[in-house]
Amino acid sequence: MNTKETLIKSLDLQPHPEGGYYKETYRSQGNIAEECLSDAYNGSRSHATGIYFLLTSDNFSAFHKINQDEMWHFYDGASILLHIILKEGVYSQHIIGRNILAGEVPQLVVKGGDWFAAEVIGVDTFSFVGCTVSPGFDFKDFVLPSRKELVALFPEHTDVITRLTHH
Ligand code: GUN
Repeated sequence: MNTKETLIKSLDLQPHPEGGYYKETYRSQGNIAEECLSDAYNGSRSHATGIYFLLTSDNFSAFHKINQDEMWHFYDGASILLHIILKEGVYSQHIIGRNILAGEVPQLVVKGGDWFAAEVIGVDTFSFVGCTVSPGFDFKDFVLPSRKELVALFPEHTDVITRLTHH
């Protein structure tokens, strides 16, 4: 059975600013020119990118957003609880995992512009997933708000935002 140490070491995963560990596993060779992208993008982007992402239960992936739709894929470990706040303010929870009969899904798409955070279900364990985006990922599209900024946008979700932001 894989442990978090095996996965981090063997797959050369690095700390991610949102929490957890990651490695980019795919970046398309081709680029999409800025003129072909929506106004949300400044500059060109790869057609698509993919990462491995490992989250441990003593941490969480803090609320953030990107311009791209992001597809999550479940690989190993404990199921992961994804919290989404739509740009319009509607909050929902989704479980990414293999227990289909319990309503878990092995793939989930978060739409570009929506805020999301993730945490491992369980103690002293980890979740290992993949995340793919198109257009390709660029930290220019990555917004990691402070607790204060996000609470100001969605005061009705103060509790979950307070719990799942780092600062
Ligand atoms: N590359 C670096 N960080 C990320 C991320 O958070 N998501 C995706 N899809 N790619 C990344």
